[in-house]
Amino acid sequence: MPASHEFLDRVARKHGDSFYVFNAERFKSNYLAFREGLRRHYRNSDVAYAFKANYMPAIGRLLADLQGMGEVVSRFEYDVARRFLPADRLVFNGPVKRDEDLLFALQSGSQLNLDSLHELERLVRLTDHGAPCRIGLRISACKADGAESRFGLSAETGELDAALKLLDQHEHITVNSLHCHLNSPTKTPEEFVARLETLWSIANTLNPRHRLGSINVGGGFFGRLPEALRRQFDCPIATADEYTAAIGKAFASMCPDGQVQLLIEPGVSVVADTMILVARVMGIRQRNGRRQALLDTSIVGVNPTHSALQAPLSVVAPERARGSLLQPCALVGNTCMEHDTIVPELVADLEVGDFIVFGNRGAYSINYTPDFIHPAPAIVDSHGNLLKSADNATTALASYVTDDPGGQVQ
Ligand SMILES: Cc1ncc(COP(=O)(O)O)c(C=O)c1O
Repeated sequence: MPASHEFLDRVARKHGDSFYVFNAERFKSNYLAFREGLRRHYRNSDVAYAFKANYMPAIGRLLADLQGMGEVVSRFEYDVARRFLPADRLVFNGPVKRDEDLLFALQSGSQLNLDSLHELERLVRLTDHGAPCRIGLRISACKADGAESRFGLSAETGELDAALKLLDQHEHITVNSLHCHLNSPTKTPEEFVARLETLWSIANTLNPRHRLGSINVGGGFFGRLPEALRRQFDCPIATADEYTAAIGKAFASMCPDGQVQLLIEPGVSVVADTMILVARVMGIRQRNGRRQALLDTSIVGVNPTHSALQAPLSVVAPERARGSLLQPCALVGNTCMEHDTIVPELVADLEVGDFIVFGNRGAYSINYTPDFIHPAPAIVDSHGNLLKSADNATTALASYVTDDPGGQVQ
């Protein structure tokens, strides 16, 4: 996503010295690479984009245009996604769903996936003697080190069996989907195929009264990575084509009649490379004998998830008559924390007014950043049109009671 200094400067003058730029075309092509890829090998496939990765309305609108699907893990995300997608295009996962959320999702016709035995017991109590209802079950998976994931029903501990026995006593509830999600460090296509095989073998042991509508292998794929990120992995980086060929072909041979829908739930891989975070160099000074550039963003803004991966970055500067002058420089942030060092050393030609552009900031970024010292910045599209204003005191305080409530707790 190359951007000129002139473009960034124009946006900064209007919306602040730090902002995101969102590339809608990139989102579309990432989403379609997964969906069309899967459908090439198994027609009855769909892609439920994981809203948690980035729930901004511009993405909701794109999904609606693409007749896409969404995946959510809380009632908050559910309500956001419903502004753009019909209920029957949503998968509702997550470890904590309140009673009213369970009933609401069921009545609305969304795919509700239960995470645990106690959630199923609660649903049984809530719906006993009620109308028939259809639910999915999340099956637990083991992590690379063999440790159990904290999510889903474990086949190993007997939790899954207990859930199925409970369902045998409550025939108004049927299982219509099996789901699994794991974020493994290596993310190989073979791991997804192995999860698919596990789900399919469980599907084949289900009481025939359960009519399976879908099998869902979750998210956790690699997306398109720039070279600077690729270098930070010591495993092969699979492409959307490789994932979809492996998963689609495997499922086509498991389910040749094509009756059961194949679902995936990518988040990062679809949205990470759709946004850059831009921050202006506000000042340069010497500290401890070293050059230090102060940016109008922070370590919290650039890396809210505390990822061990270094964000790829580039410098965008105006033409300089003097030619290039490379020097080592630390990039420090706009909070008052001593440790707010975004990059300890960058060798670059930097002056006040230049921009640092951090790549791959689309996933778990804006919606993961608290209003800490500086509230969240604006988002513009690749033409500079505003998608979200920079937050301010009014937006940040909107949900606080700002008058003295004066009274007693009722
Ligand atoms: C149930 C579920 N599905 C999908 C995803 C998306 O994962 P990713 O963003 O790694 O693709 C997550 C992420 O935590 C998840 O919990």
